[in-house]
Amino acid sequence: MPQYKLFVCENKEATSIAAAKSLIETVTSKPNAILGLATGGTMVPVYAHMVSDFMSHHTNYQFTHTFNLDEYINLNPLYSSESYCSFMNNHLFDKININKTNIHFPNSKDPAYYDTLIKNSGGIDVQLVGVGVNGHIGFNEPGSSIDSITRVVQLTDSTIKANSRFFGGDDNLVPKFAVSMGIQTILNARKIILVATDINKANAIKHILLNHYDPQ
Ligand code: F6R
Repeated sequence: MPQYKLFVCENKEATSIAAAKSLIETVTSKPNAILGLATGGTMVPVYAHMVSDFMSHHTNYQFTHTFNLDEYINLNPLYSSESYCSFMNNHLFDKININKTNIHFPNSKDPAYYDTLIKNSGGIDVQLVGVGVNGHIGFNEPGSSIDSITRVVQLTDSTIKANSRFFGGDDNLVPKFAVSMGIQTILNARKIILVATDINKANAIKHILLNHYDPQ
């Protein structure tokens, strides 16, 4: 059974710094590290710390490869700036010296190939994940199987509602489908950092800590 360590930090800032430091240390000790990355509000300060470290310490991402957890499908072109690819460019990729050909996102046309690609790249060294209010990890909504791999998923009403804040508050504009790494894809990573900083995640964290393998 995988081991986990729980770190309770003083506040959101300290939590984000701790997560950023762990990723920075990984890249410093292994320049060609494979990072699994996440999007969402929780990650904004994490990436901000990585960018400020890059500016002051010149951490080298030239040889680093990244695999993002998920991406929306059928995004309204008006809101394409809300794609996870745009999010990553705006918050991290455009601000560090990563080689754009080393960046990967899952593709809805052949989702399972993402797992093959990750495996052929040597596997993810550190996977960063957030958690949804309903406990989703990536876009693996409650009920997702432990052996799921990258696939097309349907978002639940609760996730659509939670994410409508990025779409002018209008649920109808939030894509209903996404392509996401599966639970197995995520668990294959050598190390996983799950970051939760908002009070509305407390219930999900409690359930995760109490029921490790509960698909809910
Ligand atoms: C994002 C992702 C999601 C988010 C989760 C929390 O790539 O996979 O699981 O981590 O929805 O989002 P925030 O941080 O916005 O509360």
